[in-house]
Parts: sequence; structure tokens; C-alpha cells
Amino acid sequence: MIGQETTARQMGFAPWEVSFIANPYPVYAEMRGRAPVLYDDQTDHWLVSRYADVNALLRDRRFGRTYLHAATHEEMGRPAEPEWHAPFWHLIRSGILDMEPPDHTRVRRLVAKAFTPRMVENLRGRIQGLMDGLVDRVLGAGEVDLIASVAEPLPVAVIAELLGVPETDRHLLRPWSAEICLMYELNPSDEYAWRAVKASEEFSDYLRALSRERRARPRDDLVSAMAQVLDDGDRLTEDELIGTCVLLLNAGHEATVNMTGNGWWTLFRHPEQLERLRADHSLVANAVEELMRFDTPLQMFERWVLEDFELHGRRIPKGAELGLIFGSANRDSAPVSTTAWGRHSAGSSWRPRSAPCSSELRTWSSCANPSGSRTTSSGDFGSWSFASSGQWMVTSRTPRLLMAAEVAPVRLQTLIST
Ligand code: HEM
Repeated sequence: MIGQETTARQMGFAPWEVSFIANPYPVYAEMRGRAPVLYDDQTDHWLVSRYADVNALLRDRRFGRTYLHAATHEEMGRPAEPEWHAPFWHLIRSGILDMEPPDHTRVRRLVAKAFTPRMVENLRGRIQGLMDGLVDRVLGAGEVDLIASVAEPLPVAVIAELLGVPETDRHLLRPWSAEICLMYELNPSDEYAWRAVKASEEFSDYLRALSRERRARPRDDLVSAMAQVLDDGDRLTEDELIGTCVLLLNAGHEATVNMTGNGWWTLFRHPEQLERLRADHSLVANAVEELMRFDTPLQMFERWVLEDFELHGRRIPKGAELGLIFGSANRDSAPVSTTAWGRHSAGSSWRPRSAPCSSELRTWSSCANPSGSRTTSSGDFGSWSFASSGQWMVTSRTPRLLMAAEVAPVRLQTLIST
């Protein structure tokens, strides 16, 4: 255990600095070894970095994604949110991610009745078609931003398809989602908060109208299924349905964009692994799991401390906030698999591993198309020969922080060789 005087910053934990974001792993290794529980006054988080601790805390009811089921803001020693933030919080708290049992259990059961593995499986062909279209556009284009041209549009299109948002309205989704996520920046400014509130109102109004339309005239989509679902006389309220749609869009695409960026960035730095994938597509499912472990797309999740407790000799009071560093836990040498995500993990039908809207298909598709090409690397920000007709070059890692330590996506350019 390190002395009280050593701070997270002194150990190198600086989630807003590009150099830290580019490679946080040496700092995490030191934290795991010397300070597995470390208070960070920069973010007001107790940082937890070892796999065993993160895994155990995620399953422990003494910690919550929210605390309002157990205590008031005052009891937790936290300020109440300003009243004008209400539309944002109402929307977020209507989605299962920010619920705790028994609400979480009830709503998740209802959503799972509508959002079935079969519904996801039925999308497989459509998703492959979307992916092929995006890849075709990239191949042969002179200069391409992998994030903007592939990583972002695919998950948004897939989720729109899944929900049943008409094609003419799909361009609205990503901007709404991005605006809503502004509230999750570290210490969001009033301007960011206002934009998040406005987008929450607009998106809610849109989904309310859509769900009423689908309730009256159901189609073969998730909004219709959720509007119809009935379990022992119980059904989703309109707010719960809307909250779930927004959650699916936000949770479903931010992580996959990051996963795609980080995954490709890793493959470009390990060209021999990319070669193995191209040669044997049966390795892709494992590769996706391993890429998620190796450069975890969502680096940190938070939990509220609902009662005083002690960990590795540090007393952590009720009202504190834990920063569970998945990125570090997944590099702990003790475990062999990705961090198990507790009761909020997106279960069998939603887990990236089994769903065709997963990175699996995208990696497969992108690997498959330029088959036979060669990739070489020349250092971390080097250039890459991706296909015989072109060259890929990593130009920057944009520090787009969502949560405290989200790893930034990579931006890629292809330069046609003449
Ligand atoms: C690489 C891709 C993904 C990663 C790394 C990821 C990661 C996570 C994590 C870590 C959680 C738990 C958060 C917590 O406990 O605080 C979570 C929850 C969730 N994710 Fe994902 N996710 C991914 C893709 C998706 C997709 C594609 C969807 C849906 C289309 C989705 C929907 C959800 C939902 C609905 C929850 C909340 C579950 C609940 O509270 O019961 N995720 N995800």
C-alpha cells in the first residue's frame, strides 16, 4: 500500500491527457501493484484497478449505478440536480441501465420478452448488407476516415433498423445521441447540459410519437414488440419504452464505435495477428473478445457507495463514487477472460459476442474484403500498407472523452499510391 500522500495524478492517472489516453496501461499496472484502491481528487472517484475487486464490486448490492432507490441526494451528501436538468434525468432513469432492482428486474424482464435472440438473428443478412455497402464505398476511395465512414454509421443504422425508425428520420439519431452524451463529460458546462436537455426532449417527443404509431399499427420491429409486450398483465410504460430505445441507441453504438476504432488500431500494430485473421476467419469470434480485453472500449464505469465499507485497508464512506477501471481489470494477469459485468451487463441476446450486430461481423467483413493484402507497421503512428492499391496511415487519436477514461478512437487515412 502506498503512502496517503501519493495521489492518482502523481501515479500518472490523467484521463484528459492525450498521452495517458494513448496508452494508460503502464499507469494501470502500477496502480494494480501499488495502490489497488486509490482516491483521485481530480475526479472525486475511488479508483479500483484489480480484476478480482472490480468483478466482486459489480455484483455487490452495496453499490449502485444510481442511489435514489436507497437514499436521497442529501443522505448521500450530494447536491440535487438543477430542476432544468429534469428532462434529461427522467429519460435516463427510465432506461434499465440506470435502474436498480426491483425496477431493473421488472423492466429488463419485459424488454427481454420483446428483444429476443431471434429478433437479433433475423437482422444478420441486413447487417451484412449494410457492412458490405460501407466497405465497398471505402475501398478505392482516396482518403477515408474509418471512424466517420464505417465505425459510426454502421451501429446507428443497425439500431435504427432494429427499432424500426424510418429511413427518412435516421439522420436525426446520431446527433441526438451525441448531444445527450454531453452530460457525461467530466464536469459538463451549462451549455453542454442545456444541449443534452434539449436533445432529451426532442428525442423523447419523437419516440413517443413513434411508439403510439406502432402501438396502433404494429410492424416487425422492436418498438412495436415493446409496445405490445405483456407479462402477467404487466407492460412497459410509455416512458420505460422511450428510455429503453434511447439506451439501446446510446449504449449500443458508442461502445461499438470505440471497439471498432480500438480493435483496428490494435490489429494495425500487430500485423501478424491481422494476417492470421485474414487467413482463418474461424478465429474472428475469439479475436473480438481478445481485442475487447486488450484495449477495452469502455475503460471505466462508476458505482455509488450505498454504505460505508473497507477495501485493501482503505475506508470508503457512503456517498463516495467508485471508478471501476475495466481497462485495468482486463489487463490483470490473474484473469483470462473479459470482465464479467454484473447485473447490468447486456445479457445473452445483447452481448456483443452472440449478436450479429456485433463487432464480429464487422471485423469479419472488413477482414474479408481486402483479402490477400499485406499490412506492415512502422511504429505507433506509422503508415500501413493495407492493400496493394493503397496505404493506410494513422493520423491521430482524437481525445473525445465521454467518461473519465474512455479510450479515444483512431482516425485513419488511406492514401492511394499512384
Ligand atoms: C463492444 C460493444 C459493447 C460493449 C463493450 C458494451 C459494454 C457494456 C457494459 C460494460 C455495460 C454495463 C454497464 C454497467 O454495468 O454500468 C453494458 C450495458 C448495456 N449495454 Fe452494452 N456494450 C456493447 C454493445 C452493446 C450493444 C450493441 C447494445 C444494444 C444494441 C448494448 C446495450 C446495452 C444495454 C441495454 C445495457 C444495460 C443492461 C442493463 O442495465 O441491464 N450494448 N454494456
